[in-house]
Amino acid sequence: MKELMDALALPVGTALDRFIKRHEKEFTYASGELSQLLRDIALAGKILNREINRAGLIDIIGADDERNPHGEVQQKLDVIANIRMIRALTNGGEACAVVTEEDEGIIHTGNVNGNYVVALDPLDGSSNIDVNVSVGTIFSIYRRVSPVGTEATLEDFLQGGRAQVAAGYILYGSSSLLVYTTGNGVNAFTLENSLGEFFLSHKRLKFPQLGEQYSTNEGYYNSFPTQIKSYLTNCKLKEFSNRYIGSLVADFHRNMFKGGIYLYPQIPKYPEGKLRLLYECYPLAFIAEQANGMATNGVQPTLDIPIDAIHQKCPYYVGSKDMVKNLLQNFYFANNPQLA
Ligand code: AHG
Ligand code: MN
Ligand code: MN
Repeated sequence: MKELMDALALPVGTALDRFIKRHEKEFTYASGELSQLLRDIALAGKILNREINRAGLIDIIGADDERNPHGEVQQKLDVIANIRMIRALTNGGEACAVVTEEDEGIIHTGNVNGNYVVALDPLDGSSNIDVNVSVGTIFSIYRRVSPVGTEATLEDFLQGGRAQVAAGYILYGSSSLLVYTTGNGVNAFTLENSLGEFFLSHKRLKFPQLGEQYSTNEGYYNSFPTQIKSYLTNCKLKEFSNRYIGSLVADFHRNMFKGGIYLYPQIPKYPEGKLRLLYECYPLAFIAEQANGMATNGVQPTLDIPIDAIHQKCPYYVGSKDMVKNLLQNFYFANNPQLA
C-alpha cells in the first residue's frame, strides 16, 4: 500500500512536447520543423484515440464501400484515420507531401516550402477495429531531396530505409502510447486521457536479446517457406508461446517489451509478402535497430532493401536480435546445404 501511495505521489514523466523540445538539438538539422511535425502527428493521434474509443457509440465501425490501392476492403476508421492524419500534416505546414496505405499516389499538402515528407499506415490492424482489439498508426519521416518551393516527387519517398530521419507508431490499446525514434534511441509516451497529453513513460526501450514468444499467422503454415517451417518447429520444441494479435504494431510492441519475433513470410497468396516496406516495415525496422532488435527479409536487413515503388511489399521478420539471428541461420543453411 505504501509503495502504491509513493507511486501516486510521483509526478508523471516529461510531457511529449517538452521532451521533443529538449532533444531537438540531437537532430542533425537542428530546427523546430521536425519537432512540429512530431507534434502534429501526436495531435492527430489524440483525435484518433478519441474516435477509436467511442467507435461503438457512433456509426464508424464496419466496412466502408471502397477498397484501398491493395484491393483490401477499407474500414470506416481506415478512412477517418487517413483524413485525420493528412489534415494534421497539412495544417501543420512542415510536410510538403504524404504517402499513405489508403491512397494510390502522393498527396501534396500544398506546403511547397515544407522540408519533410511523411509515409503513413494511418490505421494498422483494421481487422481488429470492430472487436475492441488494439490497433495503431505507423509513421516514417524523410527530409525531402527535391528542391524546396516545388512539389515533392517520388524520389523523396524512395530514398531507402536508412534515410529516415524519424519513425514511430501510436498504439491504441489498453492505454495508448506514442513510441518514436529520431536515431537516438527509442522512447515511449503514454497518453494521459484526462489531461490529453502524452507523458514519457518508458525511456530508452530495448528488445530483450532473446525472447520466448513468436507471432505469426500459423493458418498459412502449409504455404510457408521451408526455412520458416523449420524455425517454427524449433520454437515449438522449445515450447515458446505463440502470440498473434494480427495488428503488426501491437505484436511488435509486445515483442519489444517481452522478447519475441514477428514473422510474415511470402506465401502464394502474397508472393512478395503482405506488409508494405515504406510505411510498415521500414519504420518498425528503424525502431527495432534503435532498440537492440533486428529486422530482415531473410536476405538483407530491412533498412537496406532497395525500394522502387511506394506500395512495395516484402517478407518481414522482426524482433529480438538472437531470435532473428537464429532464423537467419535457417536461410543460410537452406542456401548452403553442404554446411548444414
Ligand atoms: P492493415 O490493417 O494496415 O492493412 O495491416 C494489417 C497487417 C498487419 O497489421 C497484421 O499483422 C497483418 O496484416 C495481419 O495479416 P493476416 O490477417 O494475414 O494475419
Ligand atoms: Mn498495417
Ligand atoms: Mn492500415
